[in-house]
Amino acid sequence: MPVLGTITLLVAVDHRPFISLNGEWRVIVDPYGTGLYTFHGELRTDGYFMNGKQAPGGEPVEYDFQKSPVLQVPGDWNTQRESLFFYEGPLWYQRDFSYKRKPGTRVFLHVGAANYRSHVWLNGTKVCEHEGGFTPFDCEVGDLINEGDNYVVIAVDNTRVADGIPTQQTDWWNYGGLTRDVMLVEVPEQFIDDFDLHLKRGNQNVIEGWVHIDGALPDAQATVRIPELNVDETAKVGADGYAIFSFEARELERWSPDHPRLYRVHLCAGQDNLEDEMGFRIVEVRGSEILLNGSPIFLRGVSIHAEAPYRTGRAFADQDMKILLGWVRELGGNYVRLAHYPHDERMTRLADRLGMLVWSEIPVYWAVEFDNPLVLAKAKKQLHSMIRRDRNKASVVLWSVANETPMTAARIEFLKTLVGQTREEDPTRLVTAALLVRAEGRTKVIDDPLGEALDVIGFNEYIGWYEQTPEDADQTTWKVGYDKPLIVSEFGGEAKFGLRGDPDTRWTEDYQANLYRHQLKMLKGIAQLRGMSPWILMDFRSPRRPLPEIQDYFNRKGLISDQGEKKEAFYVLQTAYKERVGVTA
Ligand code: GCU
Repeated sequence: MPVLGTITLLVAVDHRPFISLNGEWRVIVDPYGTGLYTFHGELRTDGYFMNGKQAPGGEPVEYDFQKSPVLQVPGDWNTQRESLFFYEGPLWYQRDFSYKRKPGTRVFLHVGAANYRSHVWLNGTKVCEHEGGFTPFDCEVGDLINEGDNYVVIAVDNTRVADGIPTQQTDWWNYGGLTRDVMLVEVPEQFIDDFDLHLKRGNQNVIEGWVHIDGALPDAQATVRIPELNVDETAKVGADGYAIFSFEARELERWSPDHPRLYRVHLCAGQDNLEDEMGFRIVEVRGSEILLNGSPIFLRGVSIHAEAPYRTGRAFADQDMKILLGWVRELGGNYVRLAHYPHDERMTRLADRLGMLVWSEIPVYWAVEFDNPLVLAKAKKQLHSMIRRDRNKASVVLWSVANETPMTAARIEFLKTLVGQTREEDPTRLVTAALLVRAEGRTKVIDDPLGEALDVIGFNEYIGWYEQTPEDADQTTWKVGYDKPLIVSEFGGEAKFGLRGDPDTRWTEDYQANLYRHQLKMLKGIAQLRGMSPWILMDFRSPRRPLPEIQDYFNRKGLISDQGEKKEAFYVLQTAYKERVGVTA
């Protein structure tokens, strides 16, 4: 039955019928949080910026959405309006919409992402709240929705908080707002709210998994059909709503970068028919090798922030993903590290179709409050949402629980808890993290105790940029404390596109290209290296990078400028990938 304010997570939303609420929303900028807090500073329980009608004898109405300016949804507010470029605080969105109720359906308001904290009202009644800037959420709006006219209000507050995930210090722009799609999704009374189908390790073409039905009636059944594989399986739904499956798919062609084979998978339960597009493959580690469908692979890749090419701002459109992954293909890459948070679902969908392997990550970035149980709960929730949204996407092969986190006992406990949760929720993928390395003279040492818990060890190093010279990489040796696959998850240096000079002059393309040449030579010498995702595909905005005429609030480590201009280092890496220099597969 409709339960008001249920925060759930619909899956394969992009494959369900929906009513888009994208487009123009009216907005009120609320720097003092007038709408969220009383003048004593307590969180208000009522909605403040609502329908603008003065209650009899009530407070005077000092706002009017109908006369307020608009912003486009999806989209961050920073790049839509000059006066909001640096804005951090609450901003209220409102729009009217008409709706035609369908009998026997449940209705959810789906938000693809809203950075950082959201409060949602429908027709003046609070329906839900959400914290986390990069994971979707679904509020059941139940009977609150009217036949005919409705209005929705969403307050989004991008204020950075010490007990957030991420915390207050990051190296990316704190783009605020309804940064991904907003839509109404209708489902039957009993519907498929989650599922997991995957190839069983060690078995020739046995697909196993489960389908979960929300609101399952007694004696309900669920069916999985894959017509191209002559699969038509039915299973009983248990009291817990789960239907368990395990069946042969003899003719199955396994998904891989060279053969990104996707199948239409039909899931049915009661009145609900959900269709998804899925690839099936096995990823595992054997000693220091990463195996895809039993064969060793090398991940030739690059790191990517969700920064939109050309227009900049948060990437959310199909075109943004096509351009970004198109550049990776041009590079000769087969892999992307989606830093430092889950990207728009369009990115992992496109990676599925193009055959691009994906490292997906939650923003446990730098010094979060590792000793705060509330912060651990937030990290666990974001991890769960990331896995639930993308666990049926063949392209995702690595879940990362952290990036460059300082070495403390509390941090180890915190991250081992996240690793345990990852393995429990999804035993079919590899768990990793981007670790810091330490130095012993000219030797770099990878012995972070967290490595013990990981399948694949990611490490970031910046020889030639933050330390030493590019040429020092030639004399650097590596000591690795684990017989596990390594991925250098970051290396690189900055260059302003078009700035030329000698290879010793920083910020020139020549310096960056020279750094890449020395890095690639050094990395070839690391026997158990199985992948690389240099930092970074494209220049991205960061408040930490103000250097006039060079950075102008962009981190310039991109191989490509934010205007799509390829720097010399792009071609250095492209040559290495095309010639498989230092890359074994
Ligand atoms: C770090 C961090 C990145 C950052 C990069 C840099 O390794 O992981 O998020 O942007 O270094 O300093 O450019």
